[in-house]
Amino acid sequence: MTTTSDYLDSAIVRASFPVLEEVTYLNVGTYGIMPEPALKTFQELQADFERKGVASTANVGAKANETRERIAKLLGASVKEIAFTRDATDGINLVLAGLTWQPGDEVITTTEEHEAMIHPLLYLQATKGICVRRVEISPDPDVMLRRLEEVRSPRTRLVGMSHVTCETGTRLPAHEICAWAAGYNILSLFDGAQALGAISVNVREIGCDFYSSNGHKWLCGPKGTGVFYGCLDKLVQLSPAHVGAGSLAWVDVNTGAAEPWASGQRFEYGTRAWALYAGLGASLDWYDSLGWENVERHLIALNRYAKQHIQSRKHLQLLSPFDWCDSSGLVTFKAPGNLCFEMGRMLREQYHIHTRMIPHYNAVRISTAHFNNEADIDKLMAAVDKAVRGN
Ligand SMILES: Cc1ncc(COP(=O)(O)O)c(C=O)c1O
Repeated sequence: MTTTSDYLDSAIVRASFPVLEEVTYLNVGTYGIMPEPALKTFQELQADFERKGVASTANVGAKANETRERIAKLLGASVKEIAFTRDATDGINLVLAGLTWQPGDEVITTTEEHEAMIHPLLYLQATKGICVRRVEISPDPDVMLRRLEEVRSPRTRLVGMSHVTCETGTRLPAHEICAWAAGYNILSLFDGAQALGAISVNVREIGCDFYSSNGHKWLCGPKGTGVFYGCLDKLVQLSPAHVGAGSLAWVDVNTGAAEPWASGQRFEYGTRAWALYAGLGASLDWYDSLGWENVERHLIALNRYAKQHIQSRKHLQLLSPFDWCDSSGLVTFKAPGNLCFEMGRMLREQYHIHTRMIPHYNAVRISTAHFNNEADIDKLMAAVDKAVRGN
């Protein structure tokens, strides 16, 4: 059997995450933790910029722009199609608040969305009279397309859903969904908060119009970093709610002309937290040094290891799809008879194991990140077994 150590040297990787000496961190899906080399670079850049302002020679702005180029490359996009945001939610809102809605317009989403998607949609429903239609998720393209077709109407304007769902880590067939949507002139928006950094994401291959993610989960970058992709010809359909210095390509106080850039730049205005994005660049350096393919192979192997262990226990029920092509770094399971919050508290307080609770399914979610290893999973399984046995 392949072990995760075939791809990454666990001891070396883990040495850059000192918290792992104290806790078993199985929740990068909520908050990533920064590797020490990246954190050091980020803090130095931020300190220099904050201490010296315009006298700083750290070139934080230039480094942030380098990060933008690298994010564009990572996503398979052009740099003009990228905007920095604060988080994944922010990018989703650029689309939902940027389109002009008519009462009765329809959006299709799923029944397994994070608040990042479902809350702004419900808000639009309440304030603009749009209609939100929700379909059950499936990683199977045929099933998913059939469900979409069942709720599609001439008023459907957008499909907005997770690339990888928050609750079960199901990878939705994004490419097929986008092709289906494009065939009806329906816009597509994907929430990549649980995808970017865990699986390879190429927006051209997916064929989506918009893609929103963050730097703070699977990329292990600073909190407060988000990245947004908009296909160039669709970006211009989004009217920015906020404009200011930097976001308009053309402005004339005499004629009243005010034209946003026809690029991601239209969403960036005023003074920005450049050090955060420069710091995200340092996290990308970390992944470069490990090799992105090695990271993904490690995740595949560790994820499989965790799922096999869950499946081998009669008292546990795996809720995430087993195959990597249908899933990602998240693994959700249910322990019958155990309330998930009790289980989560017990894991944290008694064993210092950090997981995420999924109340919707009364389940526990773990993240199999590049700094986790088989020993983390063994420790979790031993603790869960004990909890189920009640001792
Ligand atoms: C699928 C999904 N979307 C969005 C978010 C929120 O991301 P952010 O905090 O970057 O807005 C999460 C966070 O858990 C998530 O799992």
